[in-house]
Amino acid sequence: MTGSSSKLIIGFAYDNPVNNQAMGVESISCEYEDSETLDWIHHCLSKLGEVIKLPWGRESLIKLINTNVDVIFNITEATGGRNRESLVPAVAEALGIPYTGTDAVGLGLSVDKYLTKVIASHNGIPTSPFVRIDYSSELDKKQADIEALGYPLFVKPVTGGSSQGIRQSARVASFEALLSESNWILESCQDSVLVEKFIPGREFDAGLLETGSLKCLPVAELRLDGGDPEAFYSYEMKSTHRKEIICPADIPQDVTRQIQGYSHRLFNTLHCRDLARIDFRRGEDGIIYFLEINPLPGLSPLYSVFPKQAEAAGINPEELIEILVRNALARSAKAFP
Ligand SMILES: Nc1ncnc2c1ncn2[C@@H]1O[C@H](COP(=O)(O)OP(=O)(O)OP(=O)(O)O)[C@@H](O)[C@H]1O
Ligand SMILES: [Mg+2]
Repeated sequence: MTGSSSKLIIGFAYDNPVNNQAMGVESISCEYEDSETLDWIHHCLSKLGEVIKLPWGRESLIKLINTNVDVIFNITEATGGRNRESLVPAVAEALGIPYTGTDAVGLGLSVDKYLTKVIASHNGIPTSPFVRIDYSSELDKKQADIEALGYPLFVKPVTGGSSQGIRQSARVASFEALLSESNWILESCQDSVLVEKFIPGREFDAGLLETGSLKCLPVAELRLDGGDPEAFYSYEMKSTHRKEIICPADIPQDVTRQIQGYSHRLFNTLHCRDLARIDFRRGEDGIIYFLEINPLPGLSPLYSVFPKQAEAAGINPEELIEILVRNALARSAKAFP
């Protein structure tokens, strides 16, 4: 504890909600929590101590250096390249302030969907075959490698999150369509491109939470467009809420165990901490394919998957916030008042 009072001082590091239209490019930025969710998290944190707001930006960094903060509750995704999610943990570590969630390296690896797929495959976790494109000039050179994956293919930004840069046109059935979608990502999203084989089938999310030890929360199914196996969670679909969350998912126990086993393995390999949501699709061949890992999952008690998974395990959304703060404090051996 710092200061003369015994009240815990909690820095709340978050992103200011962004108006997509104001950003000028549709579907680039829908990643941040909305103001209702931010207010709700703030309300939960204020029951645990005094809250200092740290919206991402230069002013908050200066405030952080000049204020005695006992712990940071971090949900900052920031903007820019693959270091964006690592910035708050890196600064917190430099200042010796404990923080919730995964460290800078773990977040940096997770934000890069190409690297996480390389790591997943190396660890025996199935993931659809893929090719990475960093420059427009590579597209023609890699045409044979790309087409060897077999259409239909899926085209997405390497470091996007919350369906940023994933439009309905992301599923492509020709090289011409692939060129158009890839160039849009390279130019408008300013990101590299991940081309993968499209996996038709059901979509599942695993949730992992550390409460003493690492626990698997019930697996959730994301039913898109009434269960159409060809449907996928594009920006358009996300913004029109055409999904149903079913938790626990109605799947056989061995499928649940497989999803949870892969998730556990990847979480530990990346040295994630506290929590993560891991997304999969089950192909028509029955194989569970890893899509991506989110160590900063959405926390809205109204519509995010992770709090629903925690609730299905008997942990209410407010308790979830408290568990995360307690974990961070336990790592630094600071006392909870
Ligand atoms: N290879 C694939 N085959 C089929 N659908 C896919 C594939 N990759 C992604 N998708 C679809 O696109 C959606 C978004 O992809 P992904 O989870 O990689 O991106 P994201 O924007 O980081 O998502 P999140 O909202 O979970 O942060 C998935 O939920 C899934 O519906
Ligand atoms: Mg996802």
